[in-house]
Amino acid sequence: LKTQVGIVGGGPAGLMLSHLLAKTGIENIVVEARDHETIRNTHRAGILESQAVKMLVDSGVEGRVLTHGDKHAGIDLRFNGESHPLDFRDLVDATVTLYAQNEVFVDLAAARKRDAGDVRYSSEVTELLDLETDTPKFRFTDETGAEFEVHCDVLVGADGSRSFCRRQMPDTNRKDFKVEYPFAWFGILTEAPKSAPELIYANSPHGFALISQRSETVQRMYFQCDPNENVDDWSQDRIWNELQRRVDGPDGFTLKTGNIFDKTVLKFRSFVREPLSHGRMFLIGDAGHTVPPTGAKGLNLAFADVKVLFEALDSYYSTQNESLLHGYSDKALKRVWKAQNFSYWMTSMLHTPVDADPFMAKRALGELDTVTSSRYGQQYLAESYTGWPHA
Ligand code: DHB
Repeated sequence: LKTQVGIVGGGPAGLMLSHLLAKTGIENIVVEARDHETIRNTHRAGILESQAVKMLVDSGVEGRVLTHGDKHAGIDLRFNGESHPLDFRDLVDATVTLYAQNEVFVDLAAARKRDAGDVRYSSEVTELLDLETDTPKFRFTDETGAEFEVHCDVLVGADGSRSFCRRQMPDTNRKDFKVEYPFAWFGILTEAPKSAPELIYANSPHGFALISQRSETVQRMYFQCDPNENVDDWSQDRIWNELQRRVDGPDGFTLKTGNIFDKTVLKFRSFVREPLSHGRMFLIGDAGHTVPPTGAKGLNLAFADVKVLFEALDSYYSTQNESLLHGYSDKALKRVWKAQNFSYWMTSMLHTPVDADPFMAKRALGELDTVTSSRYGQQYLAESYTGWPHA
């Protein structure tokens, strides 16, 4: 097979890039190890920066994000049992959209199908070749066991946090940066009405909790847990008790409960690979960097990478000038590190590690008080949460 851009990974990042390239007439093939159904059922975060929404809408991905997405103009930071609402519209004249990442995937996959895009699901990439030349290649095996070799001009690794592509980069001239956290998130989906109009990020002596939403009838919630927690040890009653005690307060705020139909433990860490490229291969999204979920930057950051790489590829194919491609890694990394800082900051301010140093737990409360009691502090959080302008 021969194409211009070979894309390894058909999650939201790979499909968005494929979609944008196809729209400008740049040929591409997407190869994805999982099947459509598995990705569709992989629950991830649900907050889109307005720029991510704009990328979907402007590029003609069907407008379900506008009709089914829910605009949020703020969040509630809850600590010491008290609510502290932040109004993003008032603070920074911005909003975010609650729209689940798996719905973004469904919409992008449908758009690629509608436009007759070449997306191969259930197809495993086994080898990358000639990355340092002008004709990188990769081999993959499809679901029938048939083997293919794809010749391209540029190869893109969009294959997630356990990226095969990233692991094919040589050890020389590269560096990995990472932080491991002593906790994880226990995530649930429940058939219940909304407990509050906006998302609640709660710091409590029992650990962090996030009260998010999916629709009028389905809600998404998380609570900080041990990374080795087993979901089978948690009955519905036990989960509701744990969530409730993390949002308890003198105001008597009570979660609206319902049947829990999905339970998962999400491990999390901070990770960055530098540079995000090697020869003619470029990493986008989780393949190049991972953020902890607090603040929901993962997909937004992946889309920002897509935008930078798409513009570089567009420039390369229209002028044969590679300078933007050479600049991709540095340009994308600037935003990556801002998002790493924000995600780390939100995580450390809101979580309480088991065996936490009591000083550190009190310090985090002092920080939350500093942020919420000052308009500048609120604006700093609001600006980062709603997303910096795309470069
Ligand atoms: C969701 C996840 C997040 O990590 C976050 O910060 C906000 C919302 C969610 O799944 O809805």
